[in-house]
Amino acid sequence: MKTWAISNQKGGVGKTTTVVTLAGLLSMRGKRVLCIDLDPQGSMTSYFRLDPDSIQQSAYNLFKDSSEKLTPEPQKYIQKTSFAGLDVLPASVALATLDRQASKFKGLGLVITNALKKLEPAYDVILIDTPPMLGVLMINALAASDHLIVPVQTEFLALKGLERMMKTLKMIQKTRHKPLKYTIVPTMFDKRTRASVSSLNSLRNNYKDKLWRGYITVDTQLREASRAGTPASILSPKSKSVIAYDNLLQTIWDDKAKLTLVSNDGR
Ligand SMILES: Nc1ncnc2c1ncn2[C@@H]1O[C@H](COP(=O)(O)OP(=O)(O)OP(=O)(O)O)[C@@H](O)[C@H]1O
Ligand SMILES: [Mg+2]
Repeated sequence: MKTWAISNQKGGVGKTTTVVTLAGLLSMRGKRVLCIDLDPQGSMTSYFRLDPDSIQQSAYNLFKDSSEKLTPEPQKYIQKTSFAGLDVLPASVALATLDRQASKFKGLGLVITNALKKLEPAYDVILIDTPPMLGVLMINALAASDHLIVPVQTEFLALKGLERMMKTLKMIQKTRHKPLKYTIVPTMFDKRTRASVSSLNSLRNNYKDKLWRGYITVDTQLREASRAGTPASILSPKSKSVIAYDNLLQTIWDDKAKLTLVSNDGR
C-alpha cells in the first residue's frame, strides 16, 4: 500500500484537485483507492457530494476514538463513491476543533498512521488531502505518508509558500525513521503570462531534483469536473491537465509493476 500526502501551507494551489484527479486515474487503472480528507473545509468531501457540515462519521472520529483510547476502526467511517474502486474517508467541520482542543488531543500525531495499518489489505493507494496550514492534521498526514506531493501554483507568491512548506518538511524529517520522499508539482501554469513563466524558471533553478519536470497547465476542464462532482480523469480523460497528471502519476509510481488502463469509464 502506498500512502501519499498532498500538502502545501499555501491555499488554493490545487491540492484537492490533485488528489481527486490522481484518484480518478488510479481507479481507472484498477487500483483500490482511498481518499482521506483532513481539511476541515471539506472541499474534497463536497467534491464527492457529501456534506462536511452535516456528516456524522468522518476522519474526526479517528481522533476522538484515539483520545478515548479506543482501537482505531477506520473502516466504520469510510464511504463508497459512485466511482468503482474509489472510497472516501470524509472530513467534517469538527476537524477544525482539533487544534483548539490541543490539550485533549495531545500526543495525537500518529492517529492516521495507526489507523492506516488496519487498511493495508483493503487499498493499493491512499491519498491524503490536507488543510493549507500547519497543525495536528498536516502533521498526521505527513507522518503517515511515504511520499509527499507539493502542488505549487506558478505565480509570484508561490515560492514564499513553498519555502514555508520546506521548513515544515525539515521538521517532520527529524521525527521519522525513514525520510519522506517528496515531489514539487507546478500547477496552473499559463505560458502566456510572465508570472507563470518566471516562477516556473525560479522553481527549476531552486529545486532541481525535487521538482517534477512537467507542469499542470491552467485548464478549465478541472473546474468543470469539480462542478460535475467527477474526477477530471474520468470526465475528460483527454484534456491537457489530465494527461499531465497521468505523466506525474507514472513518475511517482516507482513500482516495477506498471500502471495499465483497465477501464476508461471508472464507474
Ligand atoms: N490546473 C488548474 N487550472 C485551472 N483551475 C484549477 C487548476 N487546479 C485547480 N484549479 C481550480 O482552482 C481552485 C483551487 O483549487 P483546489 O481547491 O484544488 O486548491 P487547494 O490547494 O486544495 O485549495 P485549499 O487550500 O483552499 O484547500 C478550484 O476552483 C479548482 O477547480
Ligand atoms: Mg483543498
